[in-house]
Amino acid sequence: MTADLFAPLELRETTIPNRVMVSPMCQYSCEDRDGLATDWHLVHLGSRASGGAGVVMTEATAVEARGRISPEDLGIWSDAHTEALAPIAEFVKSQGSVPAIQLAHAGRKASKARPWDGGEPLQPDEGGWETIAPSDQPWPYENGETATAKMEQDDIEDVIDSFRAAAERADEAGFDVAEVHAAHGYLLHEFLSPVTNHRTDDYGGDYEGRSRLVREVTAAVREVWPDDKPVFVRISATDWLPDRESWTVDDSVRLADDLAAAGADLIDVSAGGNDPDPQIPYRGPGYQLPYADRITRERDSGIAVGAVGGISSPEQADALVRNGRADMAIVGREHLRDPYFSLHAAHELDRPEAAEPPIQYRRGF
Ligand code: FNR
Repeated sequence: MTADLFAPLELRETTIPNRVMVSPMCQYSCEDRDGLATDWHLVHLGSRASGGAGVVMTEATAVEARGRISPEDLGIWSDAHTEALAPIAEFVKSQGSVPAIQLAHAGRKASKARPWDGGEPLQPDEGGWETIAPSDQPWPYENGETATAKMEQDDIEDVIDSFRAAAERADEAGFDVAEVHAAHGYLLHEFLSPVTNHRTDDYGGDYEGRSRLVREVTAAVREVWPDDKPVFVRISATDWLPDRESWTVDDSVRLADDLAAAGADLIDVSAGGNDPDPQIPYRGPGYQLPYADRITRERDSGIAVGAVGGISSPEQADALVRNGRADMAIVGREHLRDPYFSLHAAHELDRPEAAEPPIQYRRGF
């Protein structure tokens, strides 16, 4: 039988109750620039769990302090971070959703003011820091830049260790999915793409070299992540730079199977973010779906595929699963507008029994 939006998805021994995932979305809301989760994060993620999503994913959560995009990002580099995140995982689970955490390192795109403070690179006297990247080429900001150091072998080992330690903490905090963030021009994507990786050592050069770090990080996370819990990896399927040597959908099809071999269970297929001037062919509904679709059709491994980008209606989300274009519909901005997306979808798709509202809300649905 064809799966639909409300068919459970089994990954390892974890049952995801439906195919809707809340896409990771930065909230820039850690109050003391300490990476500790606050009431905002609990209420924000908790209400999307009450809203019936199968997976509720945290924002990009930095595995080390210099891997934050802004000083207000969530972090998971100490036991205090684990303690602050634990009530969120517990509450999400109490609502019947699967709690997930995106483990991230922003690479050369770190050390910026949050969007509503201007989003500009932060200099050291404003609380900024030196960023790290595969090459010493800063992101070309319009106003100034952030000092960017090329990573040495030691830095590479530190980053792998930070992802491994973050995964251990995420498990302790009670999360059931760990997602490695390798998209949007952040550190792991910077390694993947020849646009940003000019290294001549084992971590640069051809596809094998450029993909080594993300494969090693995924394997390190898998090594400590419990066998019954899935690992996701978010990638940018393309740099959207067809006129020069860049990361392509062909590379992504190959990477999906290589990540499966490294222990990943789902590939979350996004795009872009590695260059300030991408050539995006289409920006409407489902704009990144063709990339997820191709990986779904061409994968040789059993890796599951998540599609993200411009999914905003129940019919659209249901259709992509029913048509076998992806295994999971990942919904970002529509969840900012409607925390109850999945409950509304169950009604609109005439499946009210498939996503029950919290008991406290039943008289309203
Ligand atoms: C995002 N996005 C994002 N992606 C990611 O991998 N980690 C993150 O922390 C964030 N942060 C973030 C914040 C906000 C406010 C927005 C709007 C977006 C990208 C997001 O997860 C998603 O991929 C895109 O928004 C496209 O999907 P939608 O919004 O069209 O469903």
